[in-house]
Amino acid sequence: MQIHKTIPGVRAALRTAGRIVFVPTMGNLHEGHITLMRQARAHGDTVVASIFVNRLQFRPGEDFEKYPRTFTADCEKLITAGVDHLFAPGETELYPEPQRYVVEPPAEHAAILEGEFRPGHFRGVATVVMKLFSIIQPQAALFGKKDYQQFMVLSSMVREFALAVDIIPGETVRAPDGLALSSRNGYLSADERAVAPQLNRLLQQTVTAIRAGNRDFASLESAAMTELRASGWLPDYLAVRRKIDLKLPTASDSALVGGLVAELVVLAAARLGNTRLIDNLEI
Ligand code: PAJ
Repeated sequence: MQIHKTIPGVRAALRTAGRIVFVPTMGNLHEGHITLMRQARAHGDTVVASIFVNRLQFRPGEDFEKYPRTFTADCEKLITAGVDHLFAPGETELYPEPQRYVVEPPAEHAAILEGEFRPGHFRGVATVVMKLFSIIQPQAALFGKKDYQQFMVLSSMVREFALAVDIIPGETVRAPDGLALSSRNGYLSADERAVAPQLNRLLQQTVTAIRAGNRDFASLESAAMTELRASGWLPDYLAVRRKIDLKLPTASDSALVGGLVAELVVLAAARLGNTRLIDNLEI
């Protein structure tokens, strides 16, 4: 695997790369990331990963400083996964001057759910991904459905800017007890880690109720949030939404049966101690 720290370096190395498949990450790689790397191989000739902890997508007071940086271990995992090139720029390489030109996703995509609790987050994500796409020039890029709203925002960005990149989803990879793998799981104490799978269990419970015909989404949401609070969580949201645009299901949507429920997703974010976890399940 070739490791590139500079923009001219990675550009030169990829000049004759054929069809490039790209998997951007912030490092501290786990099986969720590595599954995307392995899948990438099927979509092109050259697999490129990136590791960059993107300051622009963190709010002051979030975990930018303490975000785990494990570069050597990450490189070993990428080599084992068969990644061809790693782009791992320093901050001054990617942001040599303040990034004043930004990609501003529409509020209807970026000010809801995650965006309500992390204002500016998706501006930071869209801006860095646009910049990484401009540097790597991939024909395809993979993103995990674990970050469902991120996938929706980036798919919309690519569509509206007519970028020549196929955006490919990867299924959420979970621990055996259902907890979605995340770099932030490492922040959990042993006691918190034992409670953490409850977030997924409550999503499953909600999905099961909807599949069984319950259309009182507001009651399902508040029941699940109440259970979370009772176990010591501070939930930001647990919401039943339409997959396509993450908007509220309309009254006519909710009246439908069968086909419709396949168009819904349940998303949640909640804090356990100092750790904020997100998860979602499609119906
Ligand atoms: P990061 O959190 O490192 O995630 C990198 C990619 O791995 C994302 O596409 C994410 O959805 C995916 N991923 C994370 N956990 C996963 C899991 N358990 N199962 C499947 N896929 C998983 O997402 C980011 O970085 C950043 O926002 C980034 C897109 C790199 C822009 O900075």
